[in-house]
Amino acid sequence: MKRININTLQEMKARGEKIAVLTSYDASFTLLAEDAGVDVLLVGDSLGMVVQGHDSTLPVNMDQMVYHTANVSRASRSAFVIADMPFMSHATPGQALQNAGRLMKEGGAQMVKLEGGAPQVETVRHLTQRAVPVCAHLGLLPQSVHQLGGYKVRGRDPHEATAIIEDACALEEAGAQMLVLECVPALLAAEVSKAVRMPVIGIGAGAQVDGQVLVIYDMLGITAGQRPSFSRDFLSGQDGVQSALAAYVAAVRAGEFPADENTYS
Ligand code: KIV
Repeated sequence: MKRININTLQEMKARGEKIAVLTSYDASFTLLAEDAGVDVLLVGDSLGMVVQGHDSTLPVNMDQMVYHTANVSRASRSAFVIADMPFMSHATPGQALQNAGRLMKEGGAQMVKLEGGAPQVETVRHLTQRAVPVCAHLGLLPQSVHQLGGYKVRGRDPHEATAIIEDACALEEAGAQMLVLECVPALLAAEVSKAVRMPVIGIGAGAQVDGQVLVIYDMLGITAGQRPSFSRDFLSGQDGVQSALAAYVAAVRAGEFPADENTYS
């Protein structure tokens, strides 16, 4: 089976074909997600919350990310695998390079993702000039939860919206080849997607972006506590996990997910 690569994803954006992304942290969900046709697997530091039971992603460390990325890569046959750089693993460009190298060499990731706008431009340039493909992450930045005072929609304020668009362009200019946009109004997300060539993958960012990502436990309705409003329980009404994952991929491809009730204005 031919593995999806960054060119495949860029071509999908150019054709207006939606990209289906899910998080995965282990071999079993990787096999199921790939059978369902998921294009990209994100080994997210959300594992700190849904696997480890922390109340934020901050405690996740590099050894844990390498371990989970290797579990996913070992099982993966077709998806493009992106691994998150955890909190404080990319505080300087040099530290980022060393840690990103681990995610690729030991973990088998094809790309690394890091949170942040303008302050990360130099780091993104440092990585991409040294053959480390980068996915940027703007909007709600879960690793900054204590600075932000909670998990809140970003970009409703016009200055913040302009900064998000400018940051997306600056990160692309520095070499980023994908962007995750989290919890921003749908109109702003659509503007960002038009402003950059790289595929923009939304989570709580409306339907007018190039693809969608959800935390796999959220979309199976098995996350403890209240499911975020931008997510949907795809297992409900299905006869099992495999058909729930296929329903997610079909809904993303058809532009039926996210619906209005999963979208911020
Ligand atoms: O850690 C993660 O799973 C993520 C997604 C929520 C985009 O960054």
